[in-house]
Amino acid sequence: MFDPQIFLEESVKKLREQVKGRAIIACSGGVDSTVAAVIVSKAIGRDLLAVFVDTGLMRKNEAKNVEKLFSSLGLNYRIVDASKEFLTALKGVVDPERKRKIIGAKFIEIFERIAKEFNAEYLVQGTIAPDWIESGGGLRDTIKSHHNVGGLPEKMNLKLVEPLRDLYKDEVRKLAKFLGIPVHERQPFPGPGLAIRIIGEVTEEKLRIVREANAIVEEEVEKHYDFESRPWQYFAVLLPVKTVGVHGDKRVYGYTVAIRMVESLDGMTAAYFKVDYSLLDRISTRITTEIKEVNRVVYDITNKPPGTIEWE
Ligand code: XMP
Repeated sequence: MFDPQIFLEESVKKLREQVKGRAIIACSGGVDSTVAAVIVSKAIGRDLLAVFVDTGLMRKNEAKNVEKLFSSLGLNYRIVDASKEFLTALKGVVDPERKRKIIGAKFIEIFERIAKEFNAEYLVQGTIAPDWIESGGGLRDTIKSHHNVGGLPEKMNLKLVEPLRDLYKDEVRKLAKFLGIPVHERQPFPGPGLAIRIIGEVTEEKLRIVREANAIVEEEVEKHYDFESRPWQYFAVLLPVKTVGVHGDKRVYGYTVAIRMVESLDGMTAAYFKVDYSLLDRISTRITTEIKEVNRVVYDITNKPPGTIEWE
């Protein structure tokens, strides 16, 4: 039986022997990286810096919520607003794989800069057992080069610290509860963020539109279904086509938003979610009234395969 208190005491003791200098962690606010950060900070205090890189490609209020969380946990943290840098790097880029590579490289560049400034010698990661047991490179890796901050250590000259390496997800959740870290049962969200939910070039305007549309989808789905009956993933995609519509008695020419909701176990295969029409109604009405640039909403009825879950 996993006992969080015993695990914590033993980990802190081991970490104090292992970590003899400053350490840094890239923390997304997700359960694994946050639990890892809190455990290491219990061992070495302010010699650990938790870094959240705000790529500007996050969901609505994400950076703000992460800041609140870090501060409530008493972590030594830094929120780096790099949104301008990411937007500049993505200017003119249309190809999805190039977007992923640019975002991954930029992330590493920024994180390395901060690690140097902090004189970090150790890199903490929230790796859990399934991450390395399953990292044989499955089918999905050959289809899309999934950007994940897991790719950090090879490029950096830091000693790796992985306090959760032997734990499974349910044990990490128990630990989180024990440490007072709220465990939100949130749906998966891709590392490259909203950049791959804007088909074509990423611009500030399009980011604002897809972020709003996505927030509406999340809010309405979470109101309509309880956790058990919710789709596995649900989000909005902004398409690069404009179509004709009518607002009042005026002709408008606006964007189309696609809604994607899928059922899946692990993302490898997926079935489109057989959604209630009343929910689609509310989502469609809210998106087209609250986001003036959008005048058409469509629902994706493709399974995976042949479609992937994300559109890019
Ligand atoms: P696809 O689109 O390949 O997605 O059917 C399967 C699952 O992976 C997520 N996804 C990503 N996650 N970096 C990530 O960290 C990525 O580049 C990426 N692309 C897709 C997707 O949201 C789904 O859960």
